[in-house]
Amino acid sequence: MSNFSADNPEEFKAATRAQWDQSARGWNDQSARIREWLRAPTDAMLNMAGVRRGARVLDVAAGAGDQTLDIAARVGATGSVLATDLSPAILAFAKANAQRAGHDNVETQVADGENLPIADGSFDAVICRLGLMFYPNPGQGLREMYRALKPGGCACTMVFSAPDNNPCIAILVSTALKHAGLPPRDPYQPGGLLSLGKPGLLDDLFREAGFSAVATTKVTAPFRLPVANDYLDFIRTSAGPILQILSRLDESARQAAWTEIETKLSAFNTPGGWVGPNELLLTVGRR
Ligand SMILES: C[S@@+](CC[C@H](N)C(=O)[O-])C[C@H]1O[C@@H](n2cnc3c(N)ncnc32)[C@H](O)[C@@H]1O
Repeated sequence: MSNFSADNPEEFKAATRAQWDQSARGWNDQSARIREWLRAPTDAMLNMAGVRRGARVLDVAAGAGDQTLDIAARVGATGSVLATDLSPAILAFAKANAQRAGHDNVETQVADGENLPIADGSFDAVICRLGLMFYPNPGQGLREMYRALKPGGCACTMVFSAPDNNPCIAILVSTALKHAGLPPRDPYQPGGLLSLGKPGLLDDLFREAGFSAVATTKVTAPFRLPVANDYLDFIRTSAGPILQILSRLDESARQAAWTEIETKLSAFNTPGGWVGPNELLLTVGRR
């Protein structure tokens, strides 16, 4: 993958799709942990977007559909959800999970969030949970969300905040890059895990996309697990961007990287278990 997503956005998105196709099963297998971790922020996000009974909701970068299930339950039989994602493999899990949960008000469609194949003004609310920061052009993604909304409808996104408040992600990225022989990256470089964490950036992008009543809420969302190795297990199976950086290494070099990452992550051991600090930004805007 190019170091700078803006160099060649289509190539960057093709690499992103391949990366999430590859991590799809792992992300889906980790659904229970992800659900526990993001339960409260997800509820807050759906409240901010005004997701209610009977609403038609667009879920962008839906992944394996964990939040899609929450939306489907909220909107009920008189509402509906369209879950979209760049990666066909991960979206297939969203479809299967919705069917298994008995939600027949969920449809899925593979789509680039920067170019949504949907009619203008067709949704009451738009949700994007932990997806927008991976776009090479998040402003374009927000313009598409704005276009999708009916007048008066709201979009709400969830992204990671600043690197200092997400030290585990900062450790993962910097250690993986070092072992892969790559130079350190500007954490705010477009397309990166922490790229939308710069204070005020997302609010400006929402306004530039046309949204009014823009507001951001910071939410702490610590990842609580029995031991550091459980977080490592989560990352090793599901975290596409980190796996992608380490994919260029042979097995023993990769193992050396994981060992250093585990040592650094053990700084977050507490008497009650491993607690990885995380901070999220929930940003809402109205069309
Ligand atoms: C961390 S996962 C989050 C999935 C899900 N929203 C959740 O919270 O469980 C990020 C997702 O963003 C998707 N994604 C990345 N770039 C995208 C783009 N340009 N358009 C649509 N989806 C994209 C990936 O395919 C992946 O499924």
